[in-house]
Amino acid sequence: MFCSVLHTLKSPKNVGTIIRSHVAYGGGPVVFVGYNRPWDFKKGSQAFSRKLEKQCELIFIEDDDAYFEWATDNKYTSVAIEISKNAISLPDFKFPSKTAIVVGNEATGLTSTFLARCNNIVSIPQFGAVECLNVGVSSSIVMYELSRERKDISQIKGQKFKVV
Ligand SMILES: C[S@@+](CC[C@H](N)C(=O)[O-])C[C@H]1O[C@@H](n2cnc3c(N)ncnc32)[C@H](O)[C@@H]1O
Repeated sequence: MFCSVLHTLKSPKNVGTIIRSHVAYGGGPVVFVGYNRPWDFKKGSQAFSRKLEKQCELIFIEDDDAYFEWATDNKYTSVAIEISKNAISLPDFKFPSKTAIVVGNEATGLTSTFLARCNNIVSIPQFGAVECLNVGVSSSIVMYELSRERKDISQIKGQKFKVV
């Protein structure tokens, strides 16, 4: 069981990409932190989300304090996905039973203050000369890795999954 937490993401393409992966990997709520009003899903994001946001529970939280209160109340373990000295490498990380996968925005990532409040920091190993991955790609890699450990869902096989 996991939720996706998008911290102040700006790009409609990235948000759409994350929503699509989130549904494909059987996620719970999608939480937008740093927004006091709903994310506006327009054509730019829906080309990537395939309008799958309509199937998600979307939660909008104005600031960090309110997010950590929400995570505690809902018994989520906040796992920040970020490049950091203190991070655990993704292949070595055992996901908690109720994980909040938190990703940071395209320009600055997650702040050190925010990271210090998370339960864990996980980084995705990279092998080439680029400073970081795209946030939608990062989020999707982590969802895949987390889902490999899940016993409560089964893989859909042998057919294209039709959205109704
Ligand atoms: C494009 S990065 C932000 C880069 C920003 N320029 C910086 O220096 O922090 C956006 C988000 O992608 C995720 N990310 C990108 N590469 C990652 C990696 N190798 N491991 C973990 N998270 C990564 C993090 O959540 C990060 O906050």
